[in-house]
Amino acid sequence: MRLDKYICQSTTLTRSQAKKAITQGRISSSENTIRSTAYKVSENEQISFDGKVINVRGIRYIMLNKPADFICSTVDEQLPSILNLLDVEKREQLFIAGRLDADTTGLTLITDDGQWSHKVTSPRNKCSKCYRVGLNAPVGEDAVALFREGIQLKNEAKPCLPAELQIISETEVLLTISEGKYHQVKRMFAAVGNHVVELHREKIGSIELDSSLDLGEWRYLTDAEAQSIA
Ligand code: URA
Repeated sequence: MRLDKYICQSTTLTRSQAKKAITQGRISSSENTIRSTAYKVSENEQISFDGKVINVRGIRYIMLNKPADFICSTVDEQLPSILNLLDVEKREQLFIAGRLDADTTGLTLITDDGQWSHKVTSPRNKCSKCYRVGLNAPVGEDAVALFREGIQLKNEAKPCLPAELQIISETEVLLTISEGKYHQVKRMFAAVGNHVVELHREKIGSIELDSSLDLGEWRYLTDAEAQSIA
């Protein structure tokens, strides 16, 4: 495996951060500094980062900053799957924990741990999701109480669970919900006569989208982030 890839799979660094760490001389093998990103790590070779041995992980927990025009499944032939953005082995073993619409951007969690994925998405677990929402009409202060009481969606028997609405500006809000109904955020604003023009997920539970990740970039979760989903 190439050294830069090995570092990504053993730490939470992105590929560009891994390359930088290599050129900065922070990576070594048997106390010899390696400065080539293309160096091939052989089986059983011990690689150290700042003097500490690092090992390729087993179960993978990934955060991706999803760009628009990628889909969170593998079956649409019109648009590419977000899994195509991951340069990892055994992509077919990965689950996307909570789908975003093709035009929605932001935090997406991906793993090969099915139970963990279920904890993120199961309505029973009430794992919160926070979205930055752009609207085409001004939103009034009265909307805060409406969302807190529970918005009634069209074609749903029961109102939504209470949601927290924080107004940033007339047409930009942060919305935190703890369910994942189909097109939920768009339908909630449609129910109050507004229309979502931009949707970006910023947080799932206590896991925040890493601000160093550009759209389309990803990194592995830290142990603390992965363990925060309980
Ligand atoms: N709600 C939506 O309407 N779309 C998404 O992508 C996520 C939540």
